[in-house]
Amino acid sequence: ATVGILPGQPTQVQQYFAKLVKGPAHSLTEIPGSYLGPVMRFEKGQKIRINLHNQLDEPTITHWHGLHVPADVDGHPLYAIDKGQVFVYEFEMLNRASMNIYHPHPHNTTAKQVYHGLAGAILVNDDEERRLDLPGGEYEVPIVIQDRKFDANNQLQYAHGMHDRMMGFYGDRILVNGRPNFQLDVASRAYRFRVLNGSTARIYKLAWDDKSPITVIGTDGGLLEAPVNKSYVMLAPGERLDLWVDFSGRKVGSQLVLRSRPFSGVLPGMAGGMMGGGMGMHTSALPVGSDYPIFTVKVARQVSDSPKLPDNLAKIQHHGLRDTVNPDKPVPIAISEGPMKMVLNGRPYAYNDILPSERIRLNTVQLMEIFHTHGGGGHGGQVDSGAPKMGGMGMMAMAHPIHLHGQYFQILSRSIAGNEGGDYATVKDGFIEGGWKDTVLVMPGERVKIIKPFQDFKGLFMYHCHNLEHEDMGMMRDFLVE
Ligand code: C2O
Ligand code: CU
Ligand code: CU
Repeated sequence: ATVGILPGQPTQVQQYFAKLVKGPAHSLTEIPGSYLGPVMRFEKGQKIRINLHNQLDEPTITHWHGLHVPADVDGHPLYAIDKGQVFVYEFEMLNRASMNIYHPHPHNTTAKQVYHGLAGAILVNDDEERRLDLPGGEYEVPIVIQDRKFDANNQLQYAHGMHDRMMGFYGDRILVNGRPNFQLDVASRAYRFRVLNGSTARIYKLAWDDKSPITVIGTDGGLLEAPVNKSYVMLAPGERLDLWVDFSGRKVGSQLVLRSRPFSGVLPGMAGGMMGGGMGMHTSALPVGSDYPIFTVKVARQVSDSPKLPDNLAKIQHHGLRDTVNPDKPVPIAISEGPMKMVLNGRPYAYNDILPSERIRLNTVQLMEIFHTHGGGGHGGQVDSGAPKMGGMGMMAMAHPIHLHGQYFQILSRSIAGNEGGDYATVKDGFIEGGWKDTVLVMPGERVKIIKPFQDFKGLFMYHCHNLEHEDMGMMRDFLVE
């Protein structure tokens, strides 16, 4: 079956977006023919008011993923509104230049609402970035990657049976900016691709088919200090990449394909062993970790000049242990996995269920450690909540993109027990460190230490798995900043 441009599909969704924002025309860019929300563009320091009108037949609330905003306008599920209600957001843009996301956050229904189209990109600009004169206008292209499944009538199909919830839901078609078989015509010059993994669960290992390096200039929280060249980059749900792609010197008519390349270890049974080989429990027609195209770029016209890649991009204040209030006692984020039970710190999500380790003093910088409670590497020790321990090598062990609301964090260290040479070797060169992040992919057996500031705002700030099926299963908790 061929996939069209989702003809007539989401009238509810379109109305939702039509009502979502009113503002200067330049602040919203529609992606033509797409079910995605328009790209919102804001300036650092700008004061923003957004009215959310819920025209769905169920509760919703919009979260500003990556933005540093007060707790009561962060889109916490606590504030979900019913059909016909309006939620008024007012906040000041405190973020540096970066690409962020808006998407719904009602408890238990986030994945389904995102899947059907309630998501879009937020671009923030500031003076530091503007000084660099990076490619802009038509040369700065949002690339939102999602996987979807279509039924016989070409409508989006979503399932959340037990298997989909445990592993995440995987479509068998890759869409870019809401379109299948996405092709981008470019001029022979430098571009800036603002890439977002908007899939509910799928993890990508991005590489160019002609083996030219991927040049990364930024991640979730904006520009890096300097560009980094990689042979591939991993991109988990919720993560962003800012790529410099230079087509200078390429002939008109030539093509370049961005692919997802083979990797293993992110899903149970992928390595072969105990689940009987191959993809094990994972049954998508487009298996995670297989080799498939994402989109094609075609050089359509010759131009004579192009901006040059700057050697230095931005100043980043690097945080170390000495900046934290708890250098010897990291705040634990323990991933525990069991049949029909994917949770953090041993407890499923519940409002107002704050563990001692989840109380954070306002205006502190915290060391935090994310780890699996089984599958190698020992235990964190600080979890006193009765986290279920799976016997032996937990057969459910899988990778989780862990996301924290509030301010961006820095990755202090990653360490892996046991499996350094195996599955981990297929992904490890694809992680970007040294910049600001809000989502980090944690592989089975891996321990990731992060440093995160909690400034300005008191209240509840969530942390959760950004595999949205896991989030909806309750793999989500709150920090109470006080
Ligand atoms: Cu993008 Cu709490 O999520
Ligand atoms: Cu978020
Ligand atoms: Cu998860």
